[in-house]
Amino acid sequence: MTSGFTNEQAARAALLGAAKALGPAGLNAGRAGNLSLRWHRGGRDGLLLTPSAIDYDRMVEDDIVWLPLMPGLAAGRDDALADPPECFGSRRPSSEWRLHHDVHLDRPGVGAVIHVHAPWATTLACLDKVQREGVPAFHYMIAVAGGDSLPCAPYEPFGSARLSAVTLAALRDRHACLLANHGMVATGATLSDCFELALQVEWLCRVYAQVLQCGTPVLLDEARMRDALARFGRYRSAQSSS
Ligand code: 13P
Repeated sequence: MTSGFTNEQAARAALLGAAKALGPAGLNAGRAGNLSLRWHRGGRDGLLLTPSAIDYDRMVEDDIVWLPLMPGLAAGRDDALADPPECFGSRRPSSEWRLHHDVHLDRPGVGAVIHVHAPWATTLACLDKVQREGVPAFHYMIAVAGGDSLPCAPYEPFGSARLSAVTLAALRDRHACLLANHGMVATGATLSDCFELALQVEWLCRVYAQVLQCGTPVLLDEARMRDALARFGRYRSAQSSS
């Protein structure tokens, strides 16, 4: 899969633009969150990634780093805040480099990954019920996440390989998930798909939180969600052919 940009500078500019748009879109606060875009360099598969701990207002294109995909990395048991074995750029990569790297490695159809501490997604990700069951099919739009629920990965420390491993597991058959006591991860074939999904997940989480405050949600059963997912596929393919 390619990112759709003709050169690396254009890809960096798009990633930076998306990073700076997170706050105004209500998806993030301060320095939290990180974004990546699949980008091949010199024949190597890899990703452009936002740097660690830099305020988005001050971030510039050259702060973005590039990592190769490293299929030989050990399985995710480590909870240390380790730097990647290979990384190119003048800044330290996001502490969540392993999560971004592993999603790009595991899911060749993914072109971009966004991790944010969006307020409603994070609110739900702190609830015991949501950590156990995910966000259920309370609204047909849950289908945007790729199935009949929005799963929540169990808590693991930020920046750990273990967080990457539980995120990959939660993303199985899904385009997005919550991270317990942390935030959300959204993926997409393109950066704009990924950004749009992050906004939709945040909307779903806000509405589900409101529903829980008002009463007991009526959940859509398996047959209705199967139908919604099929309709959703057709609706999306109509968009892409127009
Ligand atoms: P970075 O600034 O290292 O990307 O970390 C922010 C964050 O949200 C960690 O989960």
